Amino acid sequence: MLHLVHPTPGAHADSPSHERAGIEAIRLAALEQYEILDTAPELAFDRITALAADLFNTPISILGFIGAEQVFFKSRHGLEATQASRGEDPAAPVMMPWLRAEFANGFHAGVPLHDPDGYELGTLCVIDRRSRQVDEQQMRRLRALGSVVTDLLAMRLAARRALAQAEIASSEVDHRAMNSLQFVASLLQLQSRASASLEVTQQLLAAANRVLSVARVHRTFSTQEAAGRVPIAAHLRRLCEELSTSVGSEIRLEGADEVDVPKEQVLPIGLIVNELATNARKHAGDPITITFRRLAEGEYELCVLDEGPGLPAGFDVAATGGLGLGMKVVNALVAQLQGRLTAHPNPVGRGSCFKVVFPVA
Ligand SMILES: Nc1ncnc2c1ncn2[C@@H]1O[C@H](COP(=O)(O)OP(=O)(O)OP(=O)(O)O)[C@@H](O)[C@H]1O
Ligand SMILES: [Mg+2]
Repeated sequence: MLHLVHPTPGAHADSPSHERAGIEAIRLAALEQYEILDTAPELAFDRITALAADLFNTPISILGFIGAEQVFFKSRHGLEATQASRGEDPAAPVMMPWLRAEFANGFHAGVPLHDPDGYELGTLCVIDRRSRQVDEQQMRRLRALGSVVTDLLAMRLAARRALAQAEIASSEVDHRAMNSLQFVASLLQLQSRASASLEVTQQLLAAANRVLSVARVHRTFSTQEAAGRVPIAAHLRRLCEELSTSVGSEIRLEGADEVDVPKEQVLPIGLIVNELATNARKHAGDPITITFRRLAEGEYELCVLDEGPGLPAGFDVAATGGLGLGMKVVNALVAQLQGRLTAHPNPVGRGSCFKVVFPVA
């Protein structure tokens, strides 16, 4: 004989069907917030079903969440099945037909899991293939375990919401940083116009350009939906378009792998591209090509190529003492990425190729 202890959505059985459909839609929406349906098993929940089976001394225990058509088993102890079909009858407990079919002469005791608004999300139950009795103390313990599940769900939901809030706050900070840096760049550009010396004008414009390249990275961060990582190909594509306009050369992005790069690596990547592309424009000329790919060894490779006259004789990429500010900045950023910087002739036969290889963070 089946002992069915918990009440189910059958509580609304007397309501008209359109009302039931409305309640069910709200219930499903409430459940969806927890992002638990069709997810992988998790140790925390498996521990709870194992404990429930142990408390009742039953071979089977299930933690199920009630989806639109199926009851999804988030955790199942002593059972292969991963889900059960929901019963059609609104007056009957939700897993009744499945239980009848699977455990015709067995025993089943369960507690419903409600969200804070009272919507039934699922059930924690114990099952035996043979008939048996339960006492009130066991049921009290099963209810307590059910509360542990709903507490866990509530905590995870609160953590996810806090993270979403933090992401919004972080993108606001990036947005403000971008605005401030753009303002500083405009000031430097204005000041460059006021100078009578060509040398000073160029220095001020170079400084404005460097500040703008930091601003661009903050703009990318401020528009990222997922905190932590940035789709690098899209970021570099936009950077190349803007650099093309600002340096007045065609800067192409070729074959960039669609990989997500951690935020902390995106700033140095953007600034390195800015320096090397500016150098290519200044010391070589069009066309300038950027490539970015993920190497098999768990490393990224960033290249800036030009087809100019090539590097001066005796050029040493790491000898920052004898070079200008640009290569000093690039070397410092490469060190920040824990990478290696090399300079070679461009494989096309003309010009140079600056290559940065650095580990995936
Ligand atoms: N793409 C390139 N092609 C040829 N020579 C280059 C290239 N990039 C850099 N160099 C050489 O390396 C030198 C050092 O570059 P670096 O960026 O440090 O200084 P800069 O560009 O001269 O000045 P700054 O960057 O401080 O405005 C350059 O002066 C140039 O001689
Ligand atoms: Mg330079």
